[in-house]
Amino acid sequence: QSLRSAVGRGSSHLARRGYSTDAVPERKVAILGAAGGIGQPLSMLMKLNPHVSSLSLYDIAGTPGVAADISHVSTKSEVAGYQGEDELGKALEGSDVVLIPAGVPRKPGMTRDDLFNINAGIVKSLCIAIAKYCPNALVNVISNPVNSTVPIAAEVFKKAGVYDERKLFGVTTLDVVRAKTFYAGKAKVPPAEVNVPVVGGHAGITILPLFSQTSPKANLGDDDIKALTKRTQDGGTEVVEAKAGKGSATLSMAYAGALFADACLKGLNGVSDVVVCSFVQSNVTELPFFASKVRLGKNGVEEAIGLGPLSDYEQQGLDSLKSELKASIEKGINFANKS
Ligand code: NAI
Repeated sequence: QSLRSAVGRGSSHLARRGYSTDAVPERKVAILGAAGGIGQPLSMLMKLNPHVSSLSLYDIAGTPGVAADISHVSTKSEVAGYQGEDELGKALEGSDVVLIPAGVPRKPGMTRDDLFNINAGIVKSLCIAIAKYCPNALVNVISNPVNSTVPIAAEVFKKAGVYDERKLFGVTTLDVVRAKTFYAGKAKVPPAEVNVPVVGGHAGITILPLFSQTSPKANLGDDDIKALTKRTQDGGTEVVEAKAGKGSATLSMAYAGALFADACLKGLNGVSDVVVCSFVQSNVTELPFFASKVRLGKNGVEEAIGLGPLSDYEQQGLDSLKSELKASIEKGINFANKS
């Protein structure tokens, strides 16, 4: 008996020492909408992320099963499932990063704005809980229409007195992922080597890839660039139509969401020079929110990076996206303040 307890003490002591010499800080990530089409593969990818020590999976239904399943994956993070509003507080408490893929997706013929009536209320209620239970967390909003749901989140946080503009993000990474993939296919270069900023917002013409700034450079003509721009803007619709009523992008979105969350965790952990595109509160243009390259650090956004030189085609795109983006931002702000 005494030998067993001595061994037990010894091994837990060693385990503790193992952790304390490990430079990776403990990080809790919560996923709201974790049982959905995006939520499930995103939960899986976050379970594989070495920066995560605690993974909290919340949905209105289905999370016990998803959490039990994912918890058997042999990576270090602890997984817990929470179901229903009564458990939302526990799901959020202590979170460093909160990912929000909750809400309804598009069906063929719908725009992202058609989702507003349902998703605006969902994002609002989830953000009220975030303000209460983990006001310092970095919040990654995936739920569409991102051009409106991010301003809604900002208003909710302002009302609760916890708004820190550096910590609120609209996830536009899928636009970047698509731009990279489509460009690589056309230019015949490896997708992983391609860098292309995508700015503006996250719907139709508000999605503006800056192919003139792409590296590696390829000699693509104007028609190719126009076609790549249009395909990036319509990438979501391409998937909605191919799924024919069974939802929108889930797997590629989970990949993109996991990349973005990883960048947030790296920033929090002090990794230098983490630069990603995101829809954030911004001074880059006259619009209050705008997607651009941002540098991430220990408190979220350290710097929103200017657009750099634009081609004439990109400048036209920028000029024509502003009125739609402005209207979507205002729609979100009005919703948050009226209801
Ligand atoms: P889905 O319908 O498969 O899953 C949504 C999940 O949210 C469901 O499990 C549902 O139970 C849950 N949910 C609903 N109300 C909730 C609440 N109050 N609290 C917590 N969970 C709640 O939808 P899918 O395909 O996963 O899409 C989710 C959202 O992501 C949609 O709004 C979609 O438009 C958006 N999206 C965003 C993209 C982006 O690039 N930012 C790309 C693709 C989709």
